[in-house]
Amino acid sequence: MKFGTKAIHAGIQPDPSTGAIMTPIYQTSTYVQTSPGKHKGYEYSRTHNPTRTALQDSLAALENGKYGICYSSGLAATDALIKLLKPGDEVVCTNDLYGGTYRIFTKIFAEYGIKFHFTGMENPSDIANLINENTKMVWIETPSNPMMNVIDIKGIVALAKGKNIKVVVDNTFSTPYLQNPLDLGADIVTHSLTKYIGGHSDVVMGAIVLNDKEIADKLIFIQNACGEVPGPQDCFLVLRGIKTLHVRMQRHCENGRKVAEYLKDHPKVGKVYWPGLESHPNHHVAKKQMRDFGGMLSFTLKSDKLQDAISVLEKFKYFTLAESLGGVESLSGHPATMTHASIPKEEREKVGVKDSLIRLSVGIEEVEDLIEDLEQALG
Ligand SMILES: Cc1ncc(COP(=O)(O)O)c(C=O)c1O
Repeated sequence: MKFGTKAIHAGIQPDPSTGAIMTPIYQTSTYVQTSPGKHKGYEYSRTHNPTRTALQDSLAALENGKYGICYSSGLAATDALIKLLKPGDEVVCTNDLYGGTYRIFTKIFAEYGIKFHFTGMENPSDIANLINENTKMVWIETPSNPMMNVIDIKGIVALAKGKNIKVVVDNTFSTPYLQNPLDLGADIVTHSLTKYIGGHSDVVMGAIVLNDKEIADKLIFIQNACGEVPGPQDCFLVLRGIKTLHVRMQRHCENGRKVAEYLKDHPKVGKVYWPGLESHPNHHVAKKQMRDFGGMLSFTLKSDKLQDAISVLEKFKYFTLAESLGGVESLSGHPATMTHASIPKEEREKVGVKDSLIRLSVGIEEVEDLIEDLEQALG
């Protein structure tokens, strides 16, 4: 099956009891047993739920993996993955991670004795000196948030190979439409489904996809033991979103390109960070591992003043100022004061998150209207 066909059909069966073509919302906490332990595969909805199962199968198919596990948020998926580790274990991670991921690593799990090293990974060999016998995981976000750095997944996998280190890729920005990390050798893919995969800014959810049965069983155990489960209605909304993922992504990419090219030539704009531009430092890697370049981009202002960035954000009509990304509607954000406010100023400036940096999630509206909005806001 090609991607667009998978998005509509993979993992989905007509409802066996009625033939309903859309997966029903199984709004139930428990399931009848005819005798103790005799049931139809479902006992209690923290453990399993048929709407969740359909979504997990669909996501596994889209990521070319064997097992999909869905969570109540992207961060709940992150939480479950770090619970695979023990005190003393070490993780090497991208240094411009999503702020919430940085927060859970440094404020929650560091307290439990897990050590996190943050580093730029654009040059894979740079992480070699951070790897030691305690390293159990490498955590990659590519393209990264909000600097759109692109990391060579195959290059990192080559360094981790044979060392009992699991490579985890947060594929939220790319989605499986643009990039399949498992095919590039990564062990585990994680997503905030809240973003492009759900696609309609109406649900918060996360997922993990992987091939290794032993790790999948551990994660399923952790989920059942800790309870980080999504509700069936949310699973339904994501299943519905997935049916148009390929069509939405195609338009996000087309609009992303036009917006990036417009901004690149604007006299008030400093730098534009979008992996599809030839001037992007990792464009060659993006071209190799991604099928297109997505609808996320960031830019700075030549003046580089916080007040100027705020004024642009306040003037936007369609690029609504809001947390989050990946919905059909265009959004804007100010990483320094919003998504990345939990990262200390000197840390975030080291990786380029300046006060004038504006992040755009380019939606699927008519691109002429989006460009007009940028023109009036930039003045
Ligand atoms: C790249 C990335 N990963 C993970 C998350 C966390 O996902 P959630 O908000 O669904 O918990 C986000 C949220 O913005 C994100 O942008």
